[in-house]
Amino acid sequence: MCGIVAYVGQKNAYPILINGLKRLEYRGYDSAGIAVANDNLTVIKKKGKVAELLKVTQKIDPHGTSGIGHTRWATHGAPNDVNAHPHSSRDGKIALVHNGIIENCDTLRKALIKLGHVFVSETDTEVLVHLIQEYKTRYRVPLEESVRLALEKVVGAYAIVVIDQDEPQKIVVARKASPLVIGLGNDEFFVASDATPLIEHTKAVVYLQDEEIAVLEPGKKLAIKSFQNEPQKPSIVELDMKLEELEKGGFPHFMLKEIHQQPETIADCMRGRLNAKEAWTRLGGLEPYLDRMAKANRLIITGCGTSWHAGLIGEYLIEGLARIPVEVEYASELRYRNPVINSGDVVVALSQSGETADTLAAIQHVKEKGALIYGIVNVVGSSIARVTDAGSYIHAGPEIGVASTKAFTAQLTLLSLMAIQLAKAKGTLHHAYYQELIRELSEIPNKVRNILAKDEVIKDIAETIKDASNALYLGRGYNFPVALEGALKLKEISYIHAEGYPAAEMKHGPIALIDENMPVIVLATNMSAYDKIVSNVQEVKARKGMVISIISEGDRQIKELSDYSIEIPKTIEPLTPLLSVVPLQLLSYHVAVMRGCNVDQPRNLAKSVTVE
Ligand code: AGP
Ligand code: GLU
Repeated sequence: MCGIVAYVGQKNAYPILINGLKRLEYRGYDSAGIAVANDNLTVIKKKGKVAELLKVTQKIDPHGTSGIGHTRWATHGAPNDVNAHPHSSRDGKIALVHNGIIENCDTLRKALIKLGHVFVSETDTEVLVHLIQEYKTRYRVPLEESVRLALEKVVGAYAIVVIDQDEPQKIVVARKASPLVIGLGNDEFFVASDATPLIEHTKAVVYLQDEEIAVLEPGKKLAIKSFQNEPQKPSIVELDMKLEELEKGGFPHFMLKEIHQQPETIADCMRGRLNAKEAWTRLGGLEPYLDRMAKANRLIITGCGTSWHAGLIGEYLIEGLARIPVEVEYASELRYRNPVINSGDVVVALSQSGETADTLAAIQHVKEKGALIYGIVNVVGSSIARVTDAGSYIHAGPEIGVASTKAFTAQLTLLSLMAIQLAKAKGTLHHAYYQELIRELSEIPNKVRNILAKDEVIKDIAETIKDASNALYLGRGYNFPVALEGALKLKEISYIHAEGYPAAEMKHGPIALIDENMPVIVLATNMSAYDKIVSNVQEVKARKGMVISIISEGDRQIKELSDYSIEIPKTIEPLTPLLSVVPLQLLSYHVAVMRGCNVDQPRNLAKSVTVE
C-alpha cells in the first residue's frame, strides 16, 4: 500500500534510493528505510518522514551499487523503527521490503518459530524474509528460487524486493495484487511501486504482472518468470506522463484516484476476513470481544462527518442483522452531553485518520465510564487506535484527498463484516442468508468497477447542476445515510449548499424548497420501499424539481420519471450503500472540477481535524 524503490547497477545506490523515497512522499506513510549491499548489508530504518531517516543515513552515508528502500503504510504492527522496512533474515544476509498484506502471516510465523527463526517485529512482512532464508539455507538455491518457493506458501497481496549479501549485484522482485515497475537503464535497473521515482532516470519501463518474479543483474537481460517458473517476455513501455500526473497515478486529482481505487481498497479490507469460496468471514480484532459485544446492552457508534455517516449505516446493519440496539452519536456531542454509559455498553469509534480531536476525546470520556471501546480506523498506530481496547483496521491505504471516499466504503465493508460476525454470534442469521451476504460482499469490488465505468455519464449530469446554488439528496432506509454523505461530498468540495434528508421527510418542510432551480438527487435502489420512492419522485416532479435518480439496473419506472438517472448493479439491501455512494462521489467530484474548486484541498477544510 505504500512505496518501494530499488537500484542495482554501477552507481552509488544510496542517493538514488533516498531521492526515490522522496518522490514517493505524496503517497503518505509512517516510516521509511533503506538497505544497501556492499561487503555487508547496511540496513537503516526510522519511524516518521524520510527527513527523519536522512538524519541517520547522512552520518553513515552507506556505499554500494545495489540497494532497496521503502516507505511504510502500516497494516500489521504500529509505526516504529523496528516495524519499519527493510526486514532482515536471522543471519542478516537477506533484506526485503514489501507493499501489501500477508493474510496467512500468523500461520507462517508459528511454523518458522518452530524452525528456530526469531522474530523482532510485529509485521506480517517479516515472515517473508525468514521464509526466503529458510529455503535458501535448506535447498542452497539462488535467491530467485528461494523467493519463488517462499511465495508458494504465501497468501495475500504483495509487491516485494529482495537483496542478498551473498549475491550483492542481484535484486529479485515479485508481485501479486500490488504494483511494481522496473526501470531499464544503461547496464542498471531501477524498481519502484509506481513510475514516479523512475522518470528522472529512464523512460523505458516494464510493469511486472501478477505472479511474476524478475531477476535484475547488471550486464544481463531482464529475466522474468511466472511463479510456476515459466519464462515471461518483458513488455517494455515508454513513460510519457509528467511527474505531477504520475503522483496521482495518471488521475488529475487524488480524490478521483481514490474513488477509482475503491474496488481494490474494498477487496483489501476483506482480505483475510472473507472467503466466498469456502463461505466464511472472520474479524480477528473482534473475536476476543465478540461475546461481550453480542451481549452488550447497546452499541454506541461515534465519529464525525463522513465517519458519522458510516456509523448510521452501521446502525442499520447491526440492528438489521444482529438485532443489537445501536445508537449513533456525533463525537462532539457525545463528549459533552454527559451521556449515561456503563460497562454493559460498547462504543465503536469510526475514524479514517485516527486523530480527530472530538472522536478521541469522546472515547476517552466514555472509556472512563467503563464502556468497551472498539476502533474502526484507517491509520495504524494512530491516537484513536491506541486508546481503544480493540479494533480492526480498514486497510484503505493513505487517503490524501480531504474529501473521504475510499475510507468511507472501507468503513462500510468493515461494518458489514462486523454485523455479520455479531449476527452469527447471536444466532440471528440464517445460514442461507449468511452465504448470500458473503457472496454479495465478494462481488462488490466488481460492481463498483461497473459503476466507475459510467464516469462519463455522471460527468454529463454534473454539467447540468454545476451552477446550482442548492441541492437536495433523498434516500430511504440504508440509502438515507448515503443521501447525507452525498450532500456532504457536494458541499465540501463544490461549495454548493446541499442537504440530505430521509425521502419521507420531504413533506415535513424541505418540499417548500423545491422548484425548477433545485436539483434533487434521489437514491432509489430500495426494493423494500420502492413504491414510496416512486411517490417521492412524483412529488418532486409535480413541483418542477429536477430529479437525478440513482436506480438499480433495469428500473424503467423511476428512470422514466427522472430527468437523469444513473443505473447501478443490484445487490442485497444491506450492501447497497457500498454501491449507491459511488455515483454521488463522482458527481460531486465533477461538479467541483467544473466550478474550478480545489478538489483535493477544499477551502477551510483539513484532512484531519485534530483541534476542537
Ligand atoms: C469527509 O469527507 C470530511 N473530510 C470529514 O467530514 C471527515 O470525515 C471527518 O473530519 C472525520 O474524519 P476522520 O474519519 O478522520 O475521523
Ligand atoms: N503489511 C506491511 C506492514 O504493515 C506492509 C505495509 C505497506 O504496504 O507499507 O509493514
